[in-house]
Amino acid sequence: MEGIPIRNARRGDIPSLLLLWTAMMEENARLEPRLALHPHAKEHMAGRFREWIQDPDHVVVVAEQDRRLVVAYAAGRVGPGTGWHSPLRIGEISDCFVVPPRRRQGLARRMVGRMCDMLYELNVDTVRLQAVAANQAALGFWKAIGWDVLEEILEYHEDA
Ligand SMILES: CC(C)(COP(=O)(O)OP(=O)(O)OC[C@H]1O[C@@H](n2cnc3c(N)ncnc32)[C@H](O)[C@@H]1OP(=O)(O)O)[C@@H](O)C(=O)NCCC(=O)NCCS
Repeated sequence: MEGIPIRNARRGDIPSLLLLWTAMMEENARLEPRLALHPHAKEHMAGRFREWIQDPDHVVVVAEQDRRLVVAYAAGRVGPGTGWHSPLRIGEISDCFVVPPRRRQGLARRMVGRMCDMLYELNVDTVRLQAVAANQAALGFWKAIGWDVLEEILEYHEDA
């Protein structure tokens, strides 16, 4: 089965990307209130998407249903390694979102496959990402498609 086509994002996709990005952030904020958005987050992200789409070190893909409806997207970039570990260039997937009615149809698996191919074509040594610890569905997805935990982010609460 071919499924919904995946293509590189264009400037005209920015309004759809912002809607999907907001939905992704709100979903995560419901699970983890410390990740709530600040009031100017959307304006900031509109600028970011404009930069990412033009920047050769960023990759942004969308899944577009019926040539008019963007139902999923993923974004990533190439960055330097630490300088003291072996990877010299690290690909990072920063975003991956599928609208709820299109989930569990293999769309994210295909988008991530495409993203990894594109990042390896940009000569990265490995690909990494951060996932929200409270988002068990997302963790289940990444593990199901072969990713495993490398490091964890810890935060100290003064009232703990
Ligand atoms: C996580 C997410 C991207 C998965 O998208 P998707 O298109 O539904 O994923 P796929 O259909 O490609 O799933 C591939 C496999 O991952 C696993 N998987 C997917 N969703 C899962 C879930 N909610 N719970 C457990 N395993 C899951 C399954 O093994 C699935 O294969 P199967 O459907 O044949 O059982 C989607 O649920 C989403 O957008 N969530 C909100 C945003 C988010 O958390 N993004 C991750 C950012 S780090």
